[in-house]
Amino acid sequence: MKFFVDTADIKEIQEASDLGVLDGVTTNPSLVAKTGRRFRDVLEDIVKIVNGPISAEVTAVDKDGILKEGRELAKVHKNIVVKVPLIEEGIKATKIFTAEGIKTNVTLCFSPTQALLAAKVGATYISPFVGRLDDVSHEGMALIRQIREIYDNYGFETQILAASIRHPLHVLDSALAGADVATCPLKVIKQLAKHPLTDSGLAQFLEDAKKTPK
Ligand code: E4P
Repeated sequence: MKFFVDTADIKEIQEASDLGVLDGVTTNPSLVAKTGRRFRDVLEDIVKIVNGPISAEVTAVDKDGILKEGRELAKVHKNIVVKVPLIEEGIKATKIFTAEGIKTNVTLCFSPTQALLAAKVGATYISPFVGRLDDVSHEGMALIRQIREIYDNYGFETQILAASIRHPLHVLDSALAGADVATCPLKVIKQLAKHPLTDSGLAQFLEDAKKTPK
């Protein structure tokens, strides 16, 4: 399973990269707004840190606007993946990006039939938002399982990018369901390493090591 970090904060991206488990980055307009910086400046910094797919989201909602913005974003660096909303105009634009060889991440996916459409137009990634579904009392993980089954039934190569991940159990369940990627806040990536028995076991070993004659 690949790990992407879901942030536009350069310090967090550097920290995730230093851990050695980072495969890519996802951003969205809300995450970029939090930085208070120009989108392009943020992207130019990210590509220097991470040599992997970096999702950059368009804000246009009509096909031509999405294409114009996406082509500009794709010019920033070869690793940029254009993030496109899962609306009719986004589907049309994704088909064209696919034909042009521009990688896409179709985002804001909340149903398996939306994911089917994204795969049919050749999206590189589909982003089902598990946490936001859980928030409204729908089982987010069921969506990942359904998309996996549909894509496997037809051999679609679109990668399932589990998004809106809120805690380690989302990562575990995504991995068990066969998601290709999990994009997580830095905090969740760090939580994956934590176990109280590791901490207490290590404390004991370090204590006992002091008793060993030198
Ligand atoms: C995905 O690419 C989105 O940026 C993100 O995962 C949304 O997560 P949220 O629901 O925590 O905002």
